[in-house]
Amino acid sequence: MEAMKLIAGNWKMNGLKAGAAELEALLAAEVPAGVELLLCPPATLVAAFAGLAEGSKLGIGAQDCHWEVSGAHTGDISAEMLADAGARDIIVGHSERRADHGETDAIVRRKAEAAHRAGCTPIVCVGETLAERDSGETLAVIARQLEGSVPEGIAGLVVAYEPVWAIGTGRTPTTEQVRQVHAAIAARMPAGTRILYGGSVKPANAAELLSVPHVHGALVGGASLKAADFLAIAAGAAT
Ligand code: 13P
Repeated sequence: MEAMKLIAGNWKMNGLKAGAAELEALLAAEVPAGVELLLCPPATLVAAFAGLAEGSKLGIGAQDCHWEVSGAHTGDISAEMLADAGARDIIVGHSERRADHGETDAIVRRKAEAAHRAGCTPIVCVGETLAERDSGETLAVIARQLEGSVPEGIAGLVVAYEPVWAIGTGRTPTTEQVRQVHAAIAARMPAGTRILYGGSVKPANAAELLSVPHVHGALVGGASLKAADFLAIAAGAAT
């Protein structure tokens, strides 16, 4: 049987308490067959959203974590804290964290290990910049990021392929480009690893992107902020 497609929303640094209205709309909707829904709000909303979503089919996750359990790291949040707040999954190594906070593959790897240690599923992001794609380095970059940032032996770990140039730009790779990278990731990961595509996924392109071989779901930024759009993307993944 084909594994469930995972449609994950990444709200990034968006969302106040009033955002619970979008969550309520998600909770009121029917989750399409063959689809698993996950929403990763900012850390400030994880506990409240996890409480509201309890007992529903909607998972609540987080966007980042520190690698230590606790300690003198002002402003940081550990995976254990996020798990305690109700996070089921934790995104690590998003390109915005790699770029804005200088996160290296080694740091991302420690964060993925921390998520697993806390009982959460790590969603490890990889992806090339436009300069790397234009110079023909895409597959080498992806291989290096996987090698450096994905710990071995974590059952259920999820990989997200997010070409940096496709994030928030409205540009998406061709289905052939997606197929090529996802096949390369699948070849390097244990069988059964789910590989998400992320970068300008919208209701209009979701079904096409999700039909590409080795695309097991989507990591959705901007379009996850509106429940109607997020649900339309999930409908595009329905079996
Ligand atoms: P957009 O869907 O806004 O392009 O963002 C993708 C992303 O970065 C999800 O993590």
